[in-house]
Amino acid sequence: MLIENKNIWITGASSGIGSELAMQLAEAGNTVVVSARNLDKLSALSEKATSAAGRIVPLAYDVTQDHENNTVRSSLAGIVSKLDIVIICAGRCEYIDNAELDTDLFRRVYDVNVFGAVNSVIVALPLLEKAEVSQQGKPQIVAIASLSAVTGLPRAEAYGSSKAAMIYIFNTLRLDLKKRVDVTVVNPGFVATEMTKQNDFPMPFMMHPPEAARRIIKGVAKRKLTVNFPLRLWLSLKLPSLIPSLWYRWLGPKLVRAS
Ligand SMILES: NC(=O)c1ccc[n+]([C@@H]2O[C@H](COP(=O)([O-])OP(=O)(O)OC[C@H]3O[C@@H](n4cnc5c(N)ncnc54)[C@H](OP(=O)(O)O)[C@@H]3O)[C@@H](O)[C@H]2O)c1
Repeated sequence: MLIENKNIWITGASSGIGSELAMQLAEAGNTVVVSARNLDKLSALSEKATSAAGRIVPLAYDVTQDHENNTVRSSLAGIVSKLDIVIICAGRCEYIDNAELDTDLFRRVYDVNVFGAVNSVIVALPLLEKAEVSQQGKPQIVAIASLSAVTGLPRAEAYGSSKAAMIYIFNTLRLDLKKRVDVTVVNPGFVATEMTKQNDFPMPFMMHPPEAARRIIKGVAKRKLTVNFPLRLWLSLKLPSLIPSLWYRWLGPKLVRAS
């Protein structure tokens, strides 16, 4: 394991990728504070880690509730004196059918993926800045975005654009926090979690959460700017996206379901 003896806060850790990251990081000897809305699931995760070298501490936090930011920061500060890494993993996915745009749907998705990510940075930054900039490097922000933002995908008007916004926000923060914090943007492809259970379309190169978590941890340990996986899916989206007429006139339309 490449990350040890750190204080880490993970949002969206009650299931899927977030909870797997928490387990692997606790097993490696880190103190991991886990947040989400479902406190029961977070407490169960904490109990599962009792024999780990590190520990998992539950802390309920709904990332859409801006007014809770100061309280959550105080609670975090009561658990860890400083943060070395925050992993912003809370996410929501809803698809749009037949191009019927729905403002409430956009708002629900943006509330978690965009404003929730901003809230999480607001909570974490003062605690990250308490971590010493050591020889090993600066404290780290890790944003879990998505390969869905690489190019336009059918039905993903809300989800894909929220992840594109996330990528822009964190790429820009990387510049503005250059001297203080390192930023890694992670773009996973399909991972078998609660989120993808709703998908009734082919999900090529699907990965399981333990493998996804291992790749994220490896990328964070190397302080990579961006972590894209699986490579085959990234290439399948990225290369055609460089020739928009190939993607939007020929390949992309093949993914649109018959209505
Ligand atoms: N699975 C994939 O294929 C895939 C691909 C690319 C990117 N991602 C991204 O990876 C991240 C994790 O997703 P996952 O696949 O592991 O899905 P998941 O199992 O559904 O996990 C989503 C997590 O977000 C939390 N969450 C949702 N709304 C929240 C809120 N308002 N406040 C705080 N926490 C909230 C959920 O906990 P509560 O319900 O308890 O609040 C849960 O812990 C997401 O950002 C997702 O967009 C996933």
